[in-house]
This record gives sequence, C-alpha cells and structure tokens, in this order.
Amino acid sequence: MQMAKILAVYGSPRRRGNTSLLLQQAVQGAREAGAQVDEIVLRDLKMSPCLEIYGCKETGRCVIQDDFQRVYDQLLACQGMILASPIFFYTVSAHTKILMDRCQSLWVKKYWIDKTPYNLRSFTRKGLFISVGATKGKKLFDGTLHTVRYFFDVLDMEVWRTLLYRNLDFEGDVLQHPDYLQEAYQAGMDLCLAISGVEG
Ligand SMILES: Cc1cc2nc3c(=O)[nH]c(=O)nc-3n(C[C@H](O)[C@H](O)[C@H](O)COP(=O)(O)O)c2cc1C
Repeated sequence: MQMAKILAVYGSPRRRGNTSLLLQQAVQGAREAGAQVDEIVLRDLKMSPCLEIYGCKETGRCVIQDDFQRVYDQLLACQGMILASPIFFYTVSAHTKILMDRCQSLWVKKYWIDKTPYNLRSFTRKGLFISVGATKGKKLFDGTLHTVRYFFDVLDMEVWRTLLYRNLDFEGDVLQHPDYLQEAYQAGMDLCLAISGVEG
C-alpha cells in the first residue's frame, strides 16, 4: 500500500497557540497511522496576497514568484490536508486567507482552463479543518465553514471532518482540554486510514 500523503497547514500566527497544538496532535496521529506528512507554517512563508492580475489565466499557475510556488506543488501532490486556523473576525486568519486567495489560480485552472462544470463535484482529496475561537456563539464557525468548503472545493477536496472548539482564547488554553487534543490525534489517524481506504 502507498503511503498517504498529507499536508498540514498551520494558519495561526502563534507558534504554540491553540490551533497549532491541536494540529500537532493530528499530525502525530496521522504519522502514527503511516502517513507521510509535510508541515507548512504559513507565518514563516513570504507570500503576497493575490494581486488579481490573472497572470494564471494562461496555465493555471500563479505568476507571483514567492513561497506560494512551492506550496502550490505540495497542494497538488497531497491526498489529504489538515488545515488549522483560529477564528479572526468570524473568518480564518489573514495568513490562511492569503493562501486561499492565491489558490484562485487553481480555481482559474479548474473552471476557466479545464472548463469543469460549476455544479460537478468529484472529490479526489480529503480535508480536515481545525478551528478555535474565544467566544461561545452558536454561529461562530458558520461563515468560516463556507469559506473552507469553497477553498477545499477548488482542490477537489471534500470537507471530510471538522474539529471546532469554542471558548479558547489565550495561548495554551487548549491544554486544559485533553479530550480536544485526543480528538485531534484520533482525527489525524482516521484521516490517514480513510485516505488509505482502510476506513473512514
Ligand atoms: C485579530 C483577532 C481577531 C479575533 N476574532 C475573533 C472572533 O471574531 N471571534 C472569536 O471568538 N475569537 C476571536 N479571536 C480570538 C481567537 O480566535 C482566539 O484567541 C484563539 O484561541 C486563537 O487561536 P490560536 O491560539 O491558534 O492563534 C480573535 C483574535 C485575534 C487576534
């Protein structure tokens, strides 16, 4: 059996923040299940926001020469992604949003160049989304889930599972919740198994 290839994307500016700690657990679970996991810490990358120049119209590849070029190849090579972002003003962090917007190049490839019908959904990848917010509101994750769904869609990725935690604010708050950390570990493991076709 081929090793499942998973891309783990750290979207928080905090290195030891709540989403990072959860993602580390998921990565560990996925590795333990046999996955090959590449980790990307967005705050360490030099990545311009999308400039809306549509240089991608010719080939589907973004023409801005920065760290996104490597990420683009990693996005195409993976079979699964674990994306972790805190809620900032009811959406993903700016770091995460920059990555999403740069993937407009993949949207252009899919819908303008390859002319995939808009209503055709065929998923070749699985995505796990992890998020936390400080407040307790019922609708805290609603907008973000739309954003994530349409971002994953561009990658032919189904929203395979989400782990959403309220009432976590200060760095390390999640450490008071070993059950959340365990859930993230298990989800990473399950994702690897689901990609490998073992279960999920
Ligand atoms: C710029 C900014 C915007 C935020 N906006 C929200 C928000 O809209 N709703 C909320 O519940 N928490 C909000 N928070 C709190 C974070 O979601 C919370 O601190 C979270 O635990 C941070 O996750 P991290 O440790 O992974 O970075 C915001 C924090 C920052 C810095």
